[in-house]
Amino acid sequence: MAVENRIRIPELLKLVDRGEKITMLTAYDATIAPLLEAAGVEMLLVGDSMGNVALGYSSTLPVSLADVIRSTAAVARSTSRAFIVADLPFGSFEADDAEGFRAAAELMKAGAGAVKIEGGAQRTSLIKKLSENGIPVMGHLGYTPQSEHTLGGPRLQGRGEASAQMLTDAQALADAGAFGIVLEMVPARLAAKITTSVPVPTIGIGAGPDCDGQVLVWADMAGMTEWTPSFVRRFAEIGTALRDAAAGFVQATKTGAFPDTENFKLD
Ligand code: KIV
Repeated sequence: MAVENRIRIPELLKLVDRGEKITMLTAYDATIAPLLEAAGVEMLLVGDSMGNVALGYSSTLPVSLADVIRSTAAVARSTSRAFIVADLPFGSFEADDAEGFRAAAELMKAGAGAVKIEGGAQRTSLIKKLSENGIPVMGHLGYTPQSEHTLGGPRLQGRGEASAQMLTDAQALADAGAFGIVLEMVPARLAAKITTSVPVPTIGIGAGPDCDGQVLVWADMAGMTEWTPSFVRRFAEIGTALRDAAAGFVQATKTGAFPDTENFKLD
């Protein structure tokens, strides 16, 4: 295992104090996580988006606590610097706070430095319990994929009259002890207002430029998927490069060009 010198919450807060944006990308395994860390990303999110990205589900709902624990451990084993946040998946924490504490503790034992919980004021008693017992919590407001059926699918949240409620929720999460809040698919003006009004960093995804940091799903930003939401920038086309590499392997193997003399020993 790599020698650890992990970024911790006070260092993240210092970035905000000096006006430097925090960067966070999702990571689910030991191949991708060290590459993202080497690029300078401060936070790795073992998100339940692994359901769509890595496990072949069409939503995050089927992702289990065991799935997130396994991925968190892989990300922790393969990195030494990034601050790791692990998602509490749907069904692992809602029934009662004791269940939520047990689930969060498993993620911390696997190597997380914090857990992320979707939802507003209804989560404050769990957030209080966790943060008072050594488990840092990141909130998640706006479009929360675990509630996709109640929200009617991915769409901008907090428009019009709903904006006041989101501001109240953000304040409630901070009051309960959350050290930061993800704002997903939130109008940029509202995200800016939350960022200036609430005393913890905001990390935006589809929430405009004024959050304290930005988060993206690694496969989206690397161009691994056919379609990307409009709030994503594709910083590379790794999907095409990977497909071309595999096609090269197929062709070289079929024609006998691979393996070549440098790829094997005769005796
Ligand atoms: O699971 C995830 O990837 C997330 C981000 C979209 C914030 O929660």
